[in-house]
Amino acid sequence: MSISQIGRSIKASPTLALNEKAAILRQKGDPVIHLGGGEPKSKAPLDAIVAAAAHLNSGEIRYAPADGIPDLKKAIIRYTEENYGRMVAPENVMASGGAKQAIMVALQAIVNPQEEVIFPSPYWVSYPDMVKLCGGIPVPVVPEDGTFYPRIEDIEQRIGSYTKAIIINSPNNPSGAMYSEEFIAAVVELCEKRDIYLIMDDIYHKLIFDGRKQINPLKYSKKPLEESNMILINGVSKAYAMTGFRIGWAVANRKLIEVMTNIQGHQTSGPSVLLQKAAVGALNGIQSGIENLRVTLENNRNIMMARLKSFNGVHVTVPDGTFYCLADFSNYEKSSHKLSAMLIDKVQVLTVPGVEFGMEGHLRLSYCGSVKDITEGIERMKWALDPNSPNELYIGDRKLVRDWS
Ligand SMILES: Cc1ncc(COP(=O)(O)O)c(C=O)c1O
Repeated sequence: MSISQIGRSIKASPTLALNEKAAILRQKGDPVIHLGGGEPKSKAPLDAIVAAAAHLNSGEIRYAPADGIPDLKKAIIRYTEENYGRMVAPENVMASGGAKQAIMVALQAIVNPQEEVIFPSPYWVSYPDMVKLCGGIPVPVVPEDGTFYPRIEDIEQRIGSYTKAIIINSPNNPSGAMYSEEFIAAVVELCEKRDIYLIMDDIYHKLIFDGRKQINPLKYSKKPLEESNMILINGVSKAYAMTGFRIGWAVANRKLIEVMTNIQGHQTSGPSVLLQKAAVGALNGIQSGIENLRVTLENNRNIMMARLKSFNGVHVTVPDGTFYCLADFSNYEKSSHKLSAMLIDKVQVLTVPGVEFGMEGHLRLSYCGSVKDITEGIERMKWALDPNSPNELYIGDRKLVRDWS
């Protein structure tokens, strides 16, 4: 069988594979705790359900414009005005199949083979493969000071004649780090000066803690949107707990949105109209669910941080937002794949190997689940890893015996 070069270069999404693994183990009746998840557990907003149900009941579920239905564009325009202080036109907006597709289509619209796309490390698992899908070269930038907070010099040093775009995701999946306002301002300035696209993946921008304020990158742009190389990415997946609805969007200059729409038109003809209606319901409906989720996540983060402190030798940077942390377990095991596999095998706790995000020796742990899952999951991990643990651990009425050192 002959597979294309690009096809061969793409790996399965490790986070999606992990979700499948959790489902299979649960089906077998294993008492799995999923600390690898990437979605809030709260229900989708009622306004979203009602809006989608009303459209479904009409029985007329048709093709829609490839760049999104007018209602959704209107809601996104309002969102953009509220969150970025800029009134944009419908021609500046493209709705897509999740933020993921919006980023993918943006990259397809701008990246030529062999051109480079820079992003700070640790990075979201999909960025390298998305860039490769365009024939481009992913360039992860590891902050020189060993933190999760890149400095503008780190980025600047990696810019060359092939650099086409920079992707910034803050707060960041997997570290939870929210980059400083000064850094965001400097990246915007750098991209405008060097004529490089700036993809702002703002999918977690409302899920931030400790009284931090949302950062608006557009505030630092010196160009009108039509001349700007900035592409704002957002969606309803995380803040509205609507991951399965698959609605995200891009806001950018008209020319680019036109090209992206042409691409998307041939790929999928745009997202399902039914799910776009749900997103309209969420965006125009009661917004209190976001703050409730944010408060719950902040509390969960505090619980997870307190529990992780009880480990000897685990280092973790306290996340500023999202629902992830990236903890350094290299004192226990250098290979994050081995460690993650051991934790599934011995204590049925799912974690994501840090190497998938560019950070070997680390594990990404999610705190979007229940407090019970967080506390019990970390307790099981501690039992598995600490050589001074008692010999036995009970999970329900199952007795685990520690037969490893
Ligand atoms: C950083 C980042 N960007 C984009 C996405 C994709 O979001 P969506 O579910 O809207 O496609 C995710 C999802 O995990 C993410 O973590």
